[in-house]
Amino acid sequence: MSEPTETGAARPIDLRSDTVTRPTPAMRRAMAEAEVGDDVYGEDPTVNRLEQRAAQILGKEAGLFVPTGTMGNTIGVKLHTRHGEEVICEARSHLINYELSMLAWFSGCLARPIHALDGILTWAHIIPEIRPHGPHWAPTGLIELENTNNLAGGSVYPPEVFEEICDGAHKLGLKVHLDGARIFNAATYLNRPVDQLAAKADTVMFCLSKALGAPVGSLLVGTAEAIARGRLYRKRLGGGMRQVGVLAAAGLIALEETPQRLGEDHENARLLAGALARIPGITVPHRVETNIVIFDVERTGLTGAQFSARLKARGVLINAVGGTRLRLLTHYDVSRADCERAAEVLAEVAAGHA
Ligand SMILES: Cc1ncc(COP(=O)(O)O)c(C=O)c1O
Repeated sequence: MSEPTETGAARPIDLRSDTVTRPTPAMRRAMAEAEVGDDVYGEDPTVNRLEQRAAQILGKEAGLFVPTGTMGNTIGVKLHTRHGEEVICEARSHLINYELSMLAWFSGCLARPIHALDGILTWAHIIPEIRPHGPHWAPTGLIELENTNNLAGGSVYPPEVFEEICDGAHKLGLKVHLDGARIFNAATYLNRPVDQLAAKADTVMFCLSKALGAPVGSLLVGTAEAIARGRLYRKRLGGGMRQVGVLAAAGLIALEETPQRLGEDHENARLLAGALARIPGITVPHRVETNIVIFDVERTGLTGAQFSARLKARGVLINAVGGTRLRLLTHYDVSRADCERAAEVLAEVAAGHA
């Protein structure tokens, strides 16, 4: 178990998501001391600093602070598409599975999902799915890629695969939006600067509130022109925030300080994946590259939901993701010792001792 709560109760080991992190003391201090202004007037100096730093680190002209990754993706799709077009994406993408069909609702687009075994699309997957303008079909308006691919187990795009897709799309006049909610995890895995991974994408959304550990917030980065238009879509979506420098201040710390330590989360994920693979009845159906592990408990005779409930009763939180599968994520609020303890509990539940 993690350290006790203020009431003295043991805190569960929370591996449900990397969104569950609590702000660090440095983030809380920065939030308390943040210099603020009205961001709808462009007058919040802390937000302005965050947007500029995000754009600089990602190698783009401009950035837009949005409350959520969903809003960042929604604006990214809207910027590059027109009503009645199709968006090509991987079948497990967050965009089409967990964003309340915003691409249809806000942008009037259809998804054209393509399944890739490891969640990593290639240009060869995409070419046959591109639809030209014509009398019978919705033309392709955008290609959306997710790096890392969350529901494929945090898989990472090899840079040359990603670049080939962007080059191919651009030759056809198509744009590429990158859902880089966990792009810093991909950069850590590849040991490359994040701007190299973002270079060929037209817009990139990344989350401060996931592996980077900020309490709230995501960024959309791209050309100055695209981001200026995006600012208006943000307002339409109800995302015009005022003295939001209090949140941007925590985001700046997440952006500057957390990427350096993501390797620890990846090591912890590998530790858990190794332990899971040794437990009779459990399989890990993918390579573990970053901070996400998906595992299958079919041969324990339990459903994912039953397994999750038994873990919870023993102080370990891991969500089921359908059928007999569960998904865990490591993050800075779980230590190596927490992961070792979680591995013991996983083995006990699988053995039917819980
Ligand atoms: C890959 C990916 N994209 C986008 C999002 C959406 O982020 P938010 O929950 O901030 O809307 C998530 C959230 O988990 C995600 O995992």
